[in-house]
Amino acid sequence: MARLAVFASGTGSNFAAIRDALVDSRHQLAYLVCDRPSALAVEKAFRFHIPVHLVPYAGRPRREAEQEIEVILRDNPVDVIALAGFMRVLSPGFVESRRERIVNIHPSLLPRYPGMRAIERSFDSEDEELGITVHFVDAGVDTGPTIAQASFPKSEVAGLAEAEARIHELEHEMYPRVVMDLLDEVDSVVRQEGV
Ligand code: GRF
Repeated sequence: MARLAVFASGTGSNFAAIRDALVDSRHQLAYLVCDRPSALAVEKAFRFHIPVHLVPYAGRPRREAEQEIEVILRDNPVDVIALAGFMRVLSPGFVESRRERIVNIHPSLLPRYPGMRAIERSFDSEDEELGITVHFVDAGVDTGPTIAQASFPKSEVAGLAEAEARIHELEHEMYPRVVMDLLDEVDSVVRQEGV
């Protein structure tokens, strides 16, 4: 069994997709970390009976918020962290001590369109393909090593709203699978080391 924490700030549809994939697995979605009390992700977690740690960032230095997260992780250790629409940039110290243990989903074919409004920017570009990327998190913004990508021709969608819907559909299908593979991998490493 491996333990996962999801960090989210918004709607939490990827959080929900991961939860659905893990619910009958041998792995555990241990808790949600969220920086916004009003986020829909928090409501979803309550509905799923998944513990929530609220860690506000507003009005204080990132360092302080991260120290709180460090305490949560120390008291409730997890093997993997999945960022799912978490709108805060983690500090280099935080991510470097957890190399290849933090993953993120981004709604574009990185390295194209890192950062905000990625779907809109891809859609407005000359690119023929739209897609998503799951990657390991490093100290940059959407820059870590790619784990998986998926895409579809832009010509298949009629407008931005349809593009967004297709992107989210792809995310909900791919992200839980990648997270599950990583949990399987971490779990088997731990078991081998234990022998
Ligand atoms: C997703 O599009 C993800 O790629 C991006 O933020 C969005 C989060 O959506 N990083 P949700 O909160 O999972 O619904």
